[in-house]
This record gives sequence, structure tokens and C-alpha cells, in this order.
Amino acid sequence: MPRDQGLLFTPIRIGALELPARLFKTATAETRATADGGVTDDVVNFYRLLAKGETPLIVTGNIYVNRQGKSAPRQLGADDDDKIPGLSRIPDTVHAHGGRIFAQLNHCGRQVVPDFVGAADVVSASGVTDLLTGTRPRALGADEIASIVDDFATAAARCRRAGFDGVQLHSANGYLLSQFLTPYTNRRGDEYGGSLEGRTRLAREILAAIRHCCGEDFPVIIKMNGADKLALRNGLTASELAQAAHRMEAAGIDAVEISVGHYESGFPMVCGSFDLCLRHMVRGSMAQLPTVRRVLMRAFRPLVAFASNHLWPSREGFNLDHAPEFSRRLTIPLICVGGFRSRDKMEAALAAGLCDAVSAGRPFIADPFFFRHLRDRQPGPACVDCNGCVGHLGAQPADCYHPAVRSEKDAMLGREDI
Ligand SMILES: Cc1cc2nc3c(=O)[nH]c(=O)nc-3n(C[C@H](O)[C@H](O)[C@H](O)COP(=O)(O)O)c2cc1C
Repeated sequence: MPRDQGLLFTPIRIGALELPARLFKTATAETRATADGGVTDDVVNFYRLLAKGETPLIVTGNIYVNRQGKSAPRQLGADDDDKIPGLSRIPDTVHAHGGRIFAQLNHCGRQVVPDFVGAADVVSASGVTDLLTGTRPRALGADEIASIVDDFATAAARCRRAGFDGVQLHSANGYLLSQFLTPYTNRRGDEYGGSLEGRTRLAREILAAIRHCCGEDFPVIIKMNGADKLALRNGLTASELAQAAHRMEAAGIDAVEISVGHYESGFPMVCGSFDLCLRHMVRGSMAQLPTVRRVLMRAFRPLVAFASNHLWPSREGFNLDHAPEFSRRLTIPLICVGGFRSRDKMEAALAAGLCDAVSAGRPFIADPFFFRHLRDRQPGPACVDCNGCVGHLGAQPADCYHPAVRSEKDAMLGREDI
């Protein structure tokens, strides 16, 4: 089997964990769980395939730490001890193939369509309405923040007991921890708001609580935005976010992964084309939007798709623009996600010292053996950034919905002994 000794295939250490190569599977919500967030065979099979593809590190899709933090139907939860036996099926399967897996822990805060998940109580750092969904949260009280810290730590402890190799705090893309970080969504006057020290306090308290119950040797990493991309709103730049990352390093985080944008930013998080995506979205998650927004989205969908195609076209390594601010401030590994498809672009990012590892989402949805195929220079189903997977999220399992790519994937899996 041909092996190339580029930087991509050299080991990297994340906390106490040594990994054999530097291309990871980033978090993508599976939306394959039971109605109450339990693990199904479908979830286990999703990870079995990624592990069979020899993926060096897999991060699960975001897992809610309490029921209030759930953002999508059929999302996984780590909110109850009863879920530990089911959760353990995931790392057990991955370990059987020699892989490693982290659980991504999340609370959605205000970034939820309440009718989509049956949410009764939507909370955030402050009562700032989400312009995309129209969801108006209430500000969390200090006692409630303490219990959210506890929920993250307890969920991490459950994941450790289930056998996960580490956890990732989801502090990117406009979810609760990102809402606390960003001045636009955090207008608090108490110790959880104001300065960067205040706005990073929740994430630092969660990290300390996880260390307390899971130990110093349990890897804990964080996903943050490389930039908030909240035009005309008080969002954060790469420089400010890198300062926040530096504080997380000082607090003991083991690695930082950078993404980009909030829901309110549009689609910078997943560049590409949006016709297929929006066609499915208006029938899925957006069908639960309040009436005016729903009608407007249906009426203007072609225009929104046209504008999005031009604003956020495919580009390899589209978050690398933000990486230098982070890499010059951090000594811990920096992982960059966003548009990586080719071995050359991944190698170039590492060789230029822009980041220490790269991660990818959609290429692994199209081809769970993406890592092995890339390493061995073998062809496989190639993601075309149609974002059909995003369009179906929550309403259907997150899978490849591009007809040609999907049939190539199905044919490939049909030939596998799975
Ligand atoms: C279907 C889908 C689900 C996603 N779910 C998550 C998630 O649960 N947590 C997260 O941090 N990012 C999530 N993302 C964002 C990805 O982690 C990643 O930032 C994005 O897809 C860009 O990387 P790519 O070009 O390699 O796909 C999701 C993306 C997609 C396409």
C-alpha cells in the first residue's frame, strides 16, 4: 500500500493522547438518535465506517448536555446516566477498529427553532432575538449558569465512563458558549459579561469542572470561531477570538479547533452551493419557523440561494485566513476546519505553519473512508459542497443527498464487508 510521509501523516499529541496523523473528522450532527437522544444502530454504524476508514480522530456531532440545550430532532444526548450504556457502543466500536473518538458537548442556547424540538424554555447570555429564526431567549440567572456548568461536567463524566477518549466543548457557530463569548449576544453586567475575562468565564468554569470530575489526563479541546462574521453587529474578530483562545489555553484546554460564523451570519460555515440545501431546508427545519419568516423564506428561496452561492462559494481551507492570529498566540495544537478536500491544500496549510492539524466534515459524510482514500491516493465519492446534508439536518439523518455522489457511496459501501 503506497504511503507518503508528508506532514499530514506524522503523529500529533493532544493532551495525553498521541494520534498517528493530522487529518481528523470534525463534528457533524448525525441526527440518527432515538427521539429522546439515545444511541441507535444507525449512529453506531456511522462511526463504524469512519473507524474502518482509519480516521485518526473522530469528533461526534454535537451532543446536548441537558434537554434545554437540544437543538435538533434525533440529536444525541448525554443528559442522563441511563444513556451511558448506549453511548459506550460508539467508542467500543471505534476502538475495535483502532480509532479514537471525542464527544462534542453542546448547549444550543438561543440557536433553536422551538417548535422543531419542542423547546419550552429558550435561554441565552442575554435576551437578544435571533434574527434568522426570530427566537427570543431569556437571559440566564447566575444560579442557572452554575447548573449549566454542572451539566457540562456531568455529561463529560458520562462520556468518559462510556469510554470516549476526550471531549470537545462546542463554543463556535453561535451556540450557548459562543453566545457568552460574543458581545453582540452577551450584554450582561455581571461577572459573566463585559470584558473578555467575563465573557470567557463560563467556558473556563466548565473546563475547570470537567477537570475536577474527569481528571487532568482526560483530553478536553474546544471549538471556537475564527471570526464571528456578524456584519453591522458587535461580533468578534479573529484577533479577539484568538485572545479568548489564549485564555482557554491558560485555563488548561488541550487544543483549539477553529470554525466560523453564527446562524445569523448566513452560510460562511459551509461554503459551496445552496440550491439543494435551501430546497430541503424550507421543507425541514424552516417549516417550523414563525409564519412570516417561513413564508418569506419560501417566497425568496431562489433569491437567497443565488445570493448565498455568490457570497459563500467553495474554497479549500476557507478558515485559514483566521489561523495566523491563533497560531501565533497558542502553544497547544491548532486544528483548522473548512473546505479541505485535497491532500495538497492540507499539506500546504501544515507546511506553512498555519495550523497543526486539519479537520473535515462533508468529505467524510460523502465518503467515510476519506482518510484512507486520501492517504493511499485511492479514489472515493467526492463531496461537491451541494450542502444537501445541511438541508436535511434534523428532518433526516445527516447523509450525502447529492444523487450522483450518493449512488457512488452506496455502491462503494455495497462492496464493503461492513
Ligand atoms: C450536516 C452537518 C452537520 C454539522 N454539525 C455540526 C456539529 O454538530 N458541530 C459542529 O461543531 N459543527 C457542525 N457542522 C460544521 C462542520 O463541523 C464544519 O465546520 C463544516 O462542515 C465545514 O467543514 P467541511 O468543509 O469540511 O464540511 C456541521 C456541518 C454539516 C455539513
